[in-house]
Amino acid sequence: MGAIEEIKNRIDIVELISQYVQLKKAGRIYKGLCPFHSEKTPSFVVYPDEGRYHCFGCGADGDIFTFLEQKEGMSFPQALQMLAERAGVELPDRGEGPEEKNKRDRLYGLMSAAAGWYRSQLLSPRGTAARTYLEGRGILGKTAEMFALGFAPDSWDACQKHLRSLDYTDEEMVEVGISIPRETGGTYDRFRGRLMIPIRDVRGRVVGFGARIIGHGEPKYLNSPQSPIFDKGRLLFGLDMARRAIREENKAVVVEGYMDVISAFQRGVRNVVASMGTALTEHHIRQLKRLTRNIYLALDPDSAGVKATLRGLDVARSAMEEKVPVVRPGMVHFEHALDVDLYVLPLPNGQDPDDIFRDTPEKWEIALDNARPLVEFTIEMRLKDLDLSTAKGKSEAVRRVTPILKDVANDVERTHYIQSLSRTLNVDSRLLERQFWGDVRRRRPRQKRRPEEEPAPDVGTSWVVTPTVALERHLIGLLLQDEERLSLLNELLTEALHEPLSGLDFREEPHRMLFEGLSTGDIPEVLDPLRSEIISEVERSPEVRPDQLEKELLESALRLRIYRTREEIRSFQELLADAESQGSNATVAAYGEEIQRLSHSLGFLQNSLRSYNVVKPESTAV
Ligand code: CTP
Ligand code: MN
Repeated sequence: MGAIEEIKNRIDIVELISQYVQLKKAGRIYKGLCPFHSEKTPSFVVYPDEGRYHCFGCGADGDIFTFLEQKEGMSFPQALQMLAERAGVELPDRGEGPEEKNKRDRLYGLMSAAAGWYRSQLLSPRGTAARTYLEGRGILGKTAEMFALGFAPDSWDACQKHLRSLDYTDEEMVEVGISIPRETGGTYDRFRGRLMIPIRDVRGRVVGFGARIIGHGEPKYLNSPQSPIFDKGRLLFGLDMARRAIREENKAVVVEGYMDVISAFQRGVRNVVASMGTALTEHHIRQLKRLTRNIYLALDPDSAGVKATLRGLDVARSAMEEKVPVVRPGMVHFEHALDVDLYVLPLPNGQDPDDIFRDTPEKWEIALDNARPLVEFTIEMRLKDLDLSTAKGKSEAVRRVTPILKDVANDVERTHYIQSLSRTLNVDSRLLERQFWGDVRRRRPRQKRRPEEEPAPDVGTSWVVTPTVALERHLIGLLLQDEERLSLLNELLTEALHEPLSGLDFREEPHRMLFEGLSTGDIPEVLDPLRSEIISEVERSPEVRPDQLEKELLESALRLRIYRTREEIRSFQELLADAESQGSNATVAAYGEEIQRLSHSLGFLQNSLRSYNVVKPESTAV
């Protein structure tokens, strides 16, 4: 197999594209908003089996390589290089030539030399203040050694002089951010008078530094800038040392700060890494996923870092939902896209892990034991400020939680959360289920949909055919036979002061999709089998006489609505009974109103059905 094929096999296109697009699973494909043109309804589809993507809106089309070319403006060799690295595939020469490799190796050498020098400075008389500072924070000498902590003396050129003496060039020092160029020419040391924390990659090579001020002052940390060997969005501080413990304990904890990791290690807790205060990215999580699927986030929910973290997981949505605090639905989506289990570690008020390890290390285990699944935590955060005893609070709760639940890909899990929500709200879970699906439906039908967007529904013939299912099929069959009939039916409905037929009139998902395809003139291909099946059913059944057609259409539509309305009334009656037994008067009143409204609609529908039955046959008979 060629390198390209090998890379394609190893890289999951869904994971790759998920970095840019929030993808939602739909059967065997994934869909999302196209990253190449602006749109509100997803027409961008990823086919994991074929390793391809296609946009039905703008025609963008290709594989993992073209995606990066189109999205990141990379050349093919660049995309190849990047993906080869990610896949761990050795490229036959073409990518990084010996010259480039040599160049990178020099940068690693430079960083390692710098780290060694900073370390020597810490241990020298110049480092006294820094050592005193560490002692004051309870960091032992052997911990400082383990992390190779160092000190950058307060000098504009001591570091660069040393590195020059080792034959590193000023350009190289600038490239990795050890030096900063002056506008007037020349360069100077970036890190001065700071505690130096080397940041190593997974393979243990020093690639950057976090530099803390000794004591108080701003900025607290200076970090190495992005460089050919340092990418904060990919690195987790401490991962090189935490790897083994993470694998052994089958659990990783992500904290925010360098100091949190250092303290943890000092206490013998070694499965801890830091996101270095930046947004946690898909890269971060994917690296951890190689070691464990159980990832705990020990993040102070009020900190700016958490907000950044959570925002980072869902760049697309953050613009829209700027006000939503803490955990975003996107993060839940992410959890599922990457197939990991994310937990949130509840930290005692105002304490960061460093404080815990120093003052009350026994609380760490307790916090771990009390970690909560991300979805649960998210839901709770979102409901925090609501009064759940009122009808208004309840409906707002459902509104807020729906987007989170929509991101829970697993049906069983989603049902679990719906049930738990139903207990919290004291609302019938079937009603929630319906509300939830209703919401999903209402969002969709507006715009024209494209064939592959939708999941292949389970349209096997083994369906249990209930009267409603049969009626839905009958009506759709009539409409499919002649596409003019839909506008005819809608005219009839409007004349009788009813809403035109909508996807919501169908309870079965495949029927609804079929109907929506029909009304946009664009029936998804996946529905072809169902469509033929339904057409052959109407064709086999006795033909509707032309003079009976209008009646048949209108009657079917009205009956469907009557079924639906009755069902809703029943649900609200159950709710009402519950609310009564709880003695929550406001809720009782709210449900009562809803039942009245629905009963009124029901009456109106039944009237129409009756009058049509009586009047129409006579008038056509004349
Ligand atoms: N950070 C940063 N620049 C800052 C502040 C924070 O890069 N000006 C990053 C650092 O990686 C830091 C992390 O965000 O470790 C978390 O910030 P914070 O909790 O303030 O730092 P700690 O590591 O806990 O440091 P300390 O305990 O010394 O205050
Ligand atoms: Mn801290």
